[in-house]
Amino acid sequence: QGVSLIGAPTDVGASCIGARMGPSALRVAGLAQAIARFGLPVHDLGDLHGPDNPAQPAIDGHRHLAEVARWNAMLHEATLGELRRGRLPIVLGGDHCLAMGSVSAVARHCREQGKPLRVLWLDAHADFNTAALTPSGNLHGMPMACLCGHGPEVLTQLGGQVPALHPGQIRQIGIRSVDEGEKRFVHTLGIEVYDMRFIDEMGMRHTMQQALEGLGADTHLHVSLDVDFLDPDIAPGVGTTVRGGPNYREAQLCMEMIADTGRLGSLDVVELNPALDVRNQTAELAVDLIESLFGKSTLMRRG
Ligand code: ARG
Ligand code: MN
Ligand code: MN
Ligand code: MN
Repeated sequence: QGVSLIGAPTDVGASCIGARMGPSALRVAGLAQAIARFGLPVHDLGDLHGPDNPAQPAIDGHRHLAEVARWNAMLHEATLGELRRGRLPIVLGGDHCLAMGSVSAVARHCREQGKPLRVLWLDAHADFNTAALTPSGNLHGMPMACLCGHGPEVLTQLGGQVPALHPGQIRQIGIRSVDEGEKRFVHTLGIEVYDMRFIDEMGMRHTMQQALEGLGADTHLHVSLDVDFLDPDIAPGVGTTVRGGPNYREAQLCMEMIADTGRLGSLDVVELNPALDVRNQTAELAVDLIESLFGKSTLMRRG
């Protein structure tokens, strides 16, 4: 049935503007053509149209709550529609607040189909803030908390069931920046986090083996790729860089091991900020990694 590209050109959840240009940069880098080379039909649905970024300060701990809710309600519908047609949706962000809409749709679809779901959250950040914990009010720092039922109703209820996700369905990989209150919250919820220290000590191979352990034959894998997961040396085009991320080979191995499961069901590519990029290299790197995620490999693989 193929792959659907859903553009969500917004930065209403981010700390700085520019991620609204992410969908264009990914298209210019050849995302559709790269996926089509695998023989998969690619349906580019174009961009959703939502509210502008009003650039307002936080109110009661949230910046742009109404705009974030609107974008995510639209994205939820679009993502669910594609899943119901049997397609693999790729959300072209846009900032990471968009995972509220996409992941809630994936969770609803899995519930309807009685399929287990696992979410791989590839990110420098945990994105588990709440209004009470956030240092910034930016909603791109809160999608994980909202999906787990902690946040304003208009965001936690996007998927029709609260919570959309249970902590046991989540694996976070590449984490290296977690705020003080957020740290306690992640610990309390018992989230499985493979932070950079874990990856340094155990290697990406062992990390991914653990993160992918226990998948069932019909488990739906959702990958939420925040481009700031990658080391800023190779991926400068993001607003919230944190040094010390996975290098090129580690990132490729991560994608290849996900591809090997054959369970990829949906993908977010978020936080790409072309205004901060260098000759679109971060978008091109994202396309390169997505090729690996869809099964591109150097040699014919045995077994
Ligand atoms: N933890 C910080 C905050 O809440 C940064 C979050 C960055 N999130 C992201 N998706 N880039 O403001
Ligand atoms: Mn399906
Ligand atoms: Mn991040
Ligand atoms: Mn993020």
